[in-house]
Formats: sequence, C-alpha cells, structure tokens
Amino acid sequence: MRKQIAAANWKMNLTLQKGEELFDDIIALPHELKADQQAIFAVPFPYLAMAQQKVHGRKNAFIAAQNCYNKKSGAYTGETSVEMLQSLGISYVVLGHSERREYFNESNQFLAEKVNICLENNIHPIFCCGEALSVREANGQNDFVAKQLEESLFHLSAEQIQKVVIAYEPIWAIGTGKTATSEQAQEIHKFIRSQFAAKYGVAVAENISILYGGSVKGSNAKELFSQPDVDGGLVGGASLVASEFVAIINALK
Ligand code: PGA
Repeated sequence: MRKQIAAANWKMNLTLQKGEELFDDIIALPHELKADQQAIFAVPFPYLAMAQQKVHGRKNAFIAAQNCYNKKSGAYTGETSVEMLQSLGISYVVLGHSERREYFNESNQFLAEKVNICLENNIHPIFCCGEALSVREANGQNDFVAKQLEESLFHLSAEQIQKVVIAYEPIWAIGTGKTATSEQAQEIHKFIRSQFAAKYGVAVAENISILYGGSVKGSNAKELFSQPDVDGGLVGGASLVASEFVAIINALK
C-alpha cells in the first residue's frame, strides 16, 4: 500500500536553536504515525545532523535534504553530494521545487540527473512538479506537468519509479494562502497517476505517493487528504508552527 506522508519543507527559515525547539514542540504534541504513514522533515543543510538526532528511534519519521548536486564528488564549491547525505543517514531529498526551478534555473534534464544519482545511492527523491498561474488560466496544467514528469522521471525503471515520491505543487498556491480546492487537487493527482499507469501499469502507479503542496494548513489538510489520489502534503509555512504541522500529521488518512 502506498504511504500517506506529511512532509515539512522548512525552506530557508529558522535558526538551529529555533529548529530544535520546533522538533521538541512537535514531539511533545499528541500524534500517531500508523504503519503506512510517515512524517518527513526537509530541513536546511546545517540542521540535518541535529534533525537526524531528533527523529532517531521515532517510528516512521524521516529527515530530508532540500537539494543535492548531480555529481558524485569533486571541485564543486558550495554543493552537497548524495554521498554526504547518505553518510548522515538521510533517506529523502526534495528535488525540483518551483523555487529552485525559478531562482536557480533547474531544468527538467538537470533534475533527471539528480534523480538518478539519488536512486543510485538509495535516497528517495521527493520530486516536485506544478504549473504557474498563467498556465492554469490557459488550462494547460496537465500538459505542463506531464512534460515535467516525462523529462525528469520517465527514463526510470518500474522498480525505480516506486522509490520516488511526487509532490504536485501549483505555483499559484505556494505561500499565497490560496489553496487548490480538493476537487482541483484530486483532478490533477488522478491525471498524474494516470500518466504513471500509462507508462508503468496500474499496479505500479497505485504504489506511488502523490502529495499536494501549496498553502496546506491544519484547517484544510483533512479535506485535501480525503481525496483518493491525494496521499498527504508537502507543507511550507504551516510546517514552521508545531500545532499546525501536528494537525496536518493527524489529518493523514
Ligand atoms: P506553502 O509552501 O505551504 O508555504 O505554500 C509549500 C511548498 O513550497 O512546499
């Protein structure tokens, strides 16, 4: 059965001390992760070791990096390799977030290389896709997302694709307070799953977790996650508030 996932994306926020406090506050609040549910925390690089310690021994809680480089090692000042992440015990990496695509010009092809190096090293990519408002207004979201999936993921084998988590994040809903309706989310998640089914077969597609991202909060998570093809969320702003993120964890189906 595919996993239901509450993934926190701290982005470039918090200090080490505030991050530690946030973990302690989340741990102190009542929440339960069932066998098929996971909480994942994508924290800034300097906090990865701290974060690993905080979730150590906690069932179904994992740490993610927010990025990695597409090369194994070498003279790439300022970059972080998957081998480094692996040596810390990191199991997930967020790839292709719209902020990285926009501010750091990450292309579908470049992301395909990052996906490959992660999978070669047993790290699960949380692969982000999603369209801008202008694309949605022209009703071009399906074609746009299909191209992102095709160019970055469709070279993978059926075994590999099941190690990837998808996060559909419409850019117009990220950090804007404007959430996609649960119907809008379900419609495109179903379309995304159909793309995987066409390429890899229904059984493989049914195994892939597809998260929704874009202004998810405690108050709307349950409604979004109740949709059959919405397998949890990738959460920015609300993941920085312990009570909000715990409400999101508790909204998983
Ligand atoms: P948001 O961010 O929840 O603040 O909209 C989501 C994301 O960018 O992952």
